[in-house]
Amino acid sequence: MTDTSIDRLGTEQLRDRIAAELERTRARTALLTDVVDDADLMRQHSPLMSPLVWDLAHVGNQEELWLVRDVGGRPPVRQDIDDLYDAFKQPRRDRPSLPLLPPGEARAYVTTVRDKVYDLLDRIRFTDDRLVADGFAFGMIVQHEQQHDETMLATHQLRSGPAVLHAPPPPEPRAPVGGEVLIPAGAFTMGTDTDPWALDNERPAHRVDLPAYAIDATPVTNGQYRRFIADGGYDDPRWWSAAGWAHRVQADLSAPMHWRRDGDGWLCQRFGRWAPVRDDEPVVHVCWYEAQAYASWAGRRLPTEAEWEKAARWDPVTGRSRRYPWGDDDPTAVHANLGQRHLSPAPVGAYPDGASPLGVHQLIGDVWEWTSSAFRGHPGFTAFPYREYSEVFFGDDYRVLRGGSFGTDRAACRGTFRNWDFPIRRQIFSGFRCARDARPEESRP
Ligand code: AVJ
Ligand code: FE
Repeated sequence: MTDTSIDRLGTEQLRDRIAAELERTRARTALLTDVVDDADLMRQHSPLMSPLVWDLAHVGNQEELWLVRDVGGRPPVRQDIDDLYDAFKQPRRDRPSLPLLPPGEARAYVTTVRDKVYDLLDRIRFTDDRLVADGFAFGMIVQHEQQHDETMLATHQLRSGPAVLHAPPPPEPRAPVGGEVLIPAGAFTMGTDTDPWALDNERPAHRVDLPAYAIDATPVTNGQYRRFIADGGYDDPRWWSAAGWAHRVQADLSAPMHWRRDGDGWLCQRFGRWAPVRDDEPVVHVCWYEAQAYASWAGRRLPTEAEWEKAARWDPVTGRSRRYPWGDDDPTAVHANLGQRHLSPAPVGAYPDGASPLGVHQLIGDVWEWTSSAFRGHPGFTAFPYREYSEVFFGDDYRVLRGGSFGTDRAACRGTFRNWDFPIRRQIFSGFRCARDARPEESRP
């Protein structure tokens, strides 16, 4: 760990760090909600998403519940609105018809809550109590807001109308990368006991022994995916699982979401702008069923979650698992395409400084990567601090995604971080890479 890691900070430094993370996060929330007018904030842009103004007040309500009331022991600010902003009581499709706080009131509410949190932060003692040790509850709330910011970014991608978000293009490739990387057989440590802001589903650390396997050095690119389309991949049930084919037919899938044919080529729509599909960028907006069908067509398979994490964290020199592919230091702009700094995945080869020791690139940032694994608790899992973050989603209904996208903030992304969604979902910034079992002659040490 570096000197700036949270578990090494003194109380004053931890306070400053938390305040900086809260502010940085709120600036992003403000940007995502200030670029559209009030009518647009109240509107539902897709039945899959909430009105942006729901996300805004929900973020404030979670902050009130956990920090103001629970950690702070202060009286409620707006107990009357708890049910409105409870994601379990209000399905997304019903949220636009609720008596939501209008934009001005929602903004005032989140500001009132935040002021109380700054007041609490000035007085709090970071005791050994699990909720406050190392500022965990504050970190959880920062991550929660960042996750909703990514959801709001996905809402912007679904929104019709002229472009309102702007960002410089991602960096160009600095090194030619491709092919696959062989990961030798052996045990590695999956999950974490020590990362202070890791969420319950990333815990506990445990040993996982894997046979040798090969994994793609980069996410699957648009160029590779176009060959699957051109080869009739969407029309051949051989490549699809039974459930995947049924979904392909019912949803009439024929290309990634937001793609449109343009003569012999393809265009894709991004945040209100159409542009030619770039062959060297990771494919994005595919569902798990599409990823799985591509992998079968390519004679390969999706990596398991453990395979993804070993490729991302295992250091063959020390045998340790790192926080990130490049080491334990927090991501910077040279490591990974994160945090909405750019509004698209970066071409493969753009982040050589973010590669793992064995040469696997762009595991963090760019696109969330579908794995073959269902979402379950690690061995020894205990829900903390509430069952509704992770545990209620465990089971076969959800598939795990790893690594974060260009829309994921660094606070909500690390080698152990786990995301999950239904296998039909593709409005998220989802892509994938492929893997395969090692051949016997590759498995010898
Ligand atoms: C971890 C992204 C699946 O958005 O449903 C937000 C995060 N949990 N509020 C989601 C979350 C509660 C969650 N994901
Ligand atoms: Fe939430």
